[in-house]
Amino acid sequence: MTSPLKLIIDTDPGIDDAMAIFYAAATPDIELLGLTSIFGNVTATQATRNALRLLEWVGLNDVPVAQGASKPRTLPAFPPSHNVHGDEGFGEMPAETPEGKALDEPAAEFLVRMARQHKGELVLCPIGPLTNIADALDLDPEFASNVARIVLMGGSLEEGGNITPHAEANIYHDPHAAERVFASGANITMVGLDVTHRILCTAEDFDAMEAASPRLGGMINEMSRFYLHFYATVGKHDGCSLHDPAAVIACTHPELFTPRAVPVSVSCEKETSGKTILAQDDRPETDVLMSVDASAVKRQFLHEMSKLA
Ligand code: RIB
Ligand code: CA
Repeated sequence: MTSPLKLIIDTDPGIDDAMAIFYAAATPDIELLGLTSIFGNVTATQATRNALRLLEWVGLNDVPVAQGASKPRTLPAFPPSHNVHGDEGFGEMPAETPEGKALDEPAAEFLVRMARQHKGELVLCPIGPLTNIADALDLDPEFASNVARIVLMGGSLEEGGNITPHAEANIYHDPHAAERVFASGANITMVGLDVTHRILCTAEDFDAMEAASPRLGGMINEMSRFYLHFYATVGKHDGCSLHDPAAVIACTHPELFTPRAVPVSVSCEKETSGKTILAQDDRPETDVLMSVDASAVKRQFLHEMSKLA
């Protein structure tokens, strides 16, 4: 058996973030080295609290959490996406105070330290806006080469946007940071709407998850009602997208996706802000995932989630 992948998830939990973190905790393919929090679906303070609570729910109390940026690099702060993820991040579940605390170290410094310590081995999976990753790149000129790979959930090459007609939400919420990351020379895989819009889970899927895993699967089932309701309000009645779980699964199961290697850039222009486009300079290419064996990804997700307590 190959050794598990050393992974840090940068996250704004968030319902699909919760699914991704529970998946990472459940699968033997991953050794979770930490979570870093970021504004987005919720505020940075809520994201830190939710990240700690998710780890406690799955019994990973020793996995560190470092708090990250509370606003984009250049743009003014955005209000959290309460309509998609609920007031506290997990649908209608009330806020819970974690037992543990975040590190004193800010997220970007934690990322730099961990990338040095696990040089060439650490995979970073950002599933929120990319501000912390851009900050880490600024802090350490070697950060881009120290990380083995950045597998990010965000962007869209041919699929159009989900927050504007052009832009995917994570990139839209800090386009300047995203541009910094895509231009960095790091080894990047973009898991965007081109694939995540193909991977859908229904209420019946989440019921089955609860039947297999009453406590934690039951929590995801409860959260998913709110998420599915949001999807229905925007005319999507065939299920919710597994955006963030897809990025984590792409870290360990790249064979389920087909990449296209292209140089990616991000529009910071008002009209098209956050749109991921083909870069016109000579920056290194990003592996943009363009097609997916959606049934296999979904099967993999449900299989590992069924192992949760
Ligand atoms: O566009 C989908 C992404 O935006 C996901 O990461 C979701 O959690 C939100 O942050
Ligand atoms: Ca997210």
